[in-house]
Amino acid sequence: MPLHPSPIRPRLATAALFTAAALITAGATPVTAGATPVTAAAAPDIPVTSVKAHLNQFQSIATANGGNRAHGRPGYKASLDYVKGKLDAAGFTTSVKQFTSGGRTGYNLVADWPGGDTDQVLMAGAHLDSVTTGPGINDNGSGSAAILETALAVSRAQFKPTKHLRFAWWGAEELGMVGSRNYVNSLSVANRSRISGYLNFDMVGSPNPGYFVYDDDPALEKVFKDYYAGLGVPTEIETEGDGRSDHAPFKSAGIPVGGLFSGADYRKTAAQAQKWGGTAGKPFDACYHSSCDTATNIDTTALDRSSDAIAHAVWELSE
Ligand code: TRP
Ligand code: CA
Ligand code: ZN
Repeated sequence: MPLHPSPIRPRLATAALFTAAALITAGATPVTAGATPVTAAAAPDIPVTSVKAHLNQFQSIATANGGNRAHGRPGYKASLDYVKGKLDAAGFTTSVKQFTSGGRTGYNLVADWPGGDTDQVLMAGAHLDSVTTGPGINDNGSGSAAILETALAVSRAQFKPTKHLRFAWWGAEELGMVGSRNYVNSLSVANRSRISGYLNFDMVGSPNPGYFVYDDDPALEKVFKDYYAGLGVPTEIETEGDGRSDHAPFKSAGIPVGGLFSGADYRKTAAQAQKWGGTAGKPFDACYHSSCDTATNIDTTALDRSSDAIAHAVWELSE
């Protein structure tokens, strides 16, 4: 079944993905002819149009607040209020955790999905702050919007996983992972040990995308690698920024970490352009940390694949 033709043009590839996802969902519906279903619940398709709608909101927030969503600036708090409003309406238990960095107030947003074994917590996180020089739509509106839409999908499905699910949006990553470090440091040793895994999503819709999987923990890495293998999309190990995002404090605390990345300021090689399409010799994200990291600085196919991969991982790893 030619579910995933090799990428021809991004828009065509996206349309094909929608069809493919619908087919997969239909095909994977557990058949409960016998007594108990043996198939784990399949993750839903994450609508990329909804993820992009969140990105447009982040863009509007930046535009209305001096062009950025940076730590200690009004665009950051407005971004947090937007995400929190969606989560509260969907039935999450949210908490805003305040900290100070560089003489300015910062905030983490933590959202717990009620239920599941709180001795086994699966976390997914993304930094919500931008640099001061731009609106930060790929870095990291993309990860923030993708995990937000995954959380909303958990609510729509009224998902009842075995593990407890927790989503987090970090402040002040761009100042050195300040928010996520603050969070990990604030946990007791016992509460740290209850986190079975932390999944990080920082830049997952790069305009000239690569498909990079963190290789920090083999079991978490495998879930993403297998998902992309199923799509027929080759992946590489993430090496551009080991320790350059919010998974670092978790890893330092001994918590298994994983995640996805579609590339920042490194240039796509000819070999990478061969397998992924896009432009060789150009950065994965030429607008990294720049004023042009706007709502148009996104590859829709990459954002769609990343969002669906996140949902897949959250479903599979929490069962
Ligand atoms: N926010 C990160 C940063 O500014 C982006 C980044 C660069 C990144 N390289 C990475 C994130 C590698 C994850 C993995 O440094
Ligand atoms: Ca999708
Ligand atoms: Zn950054």
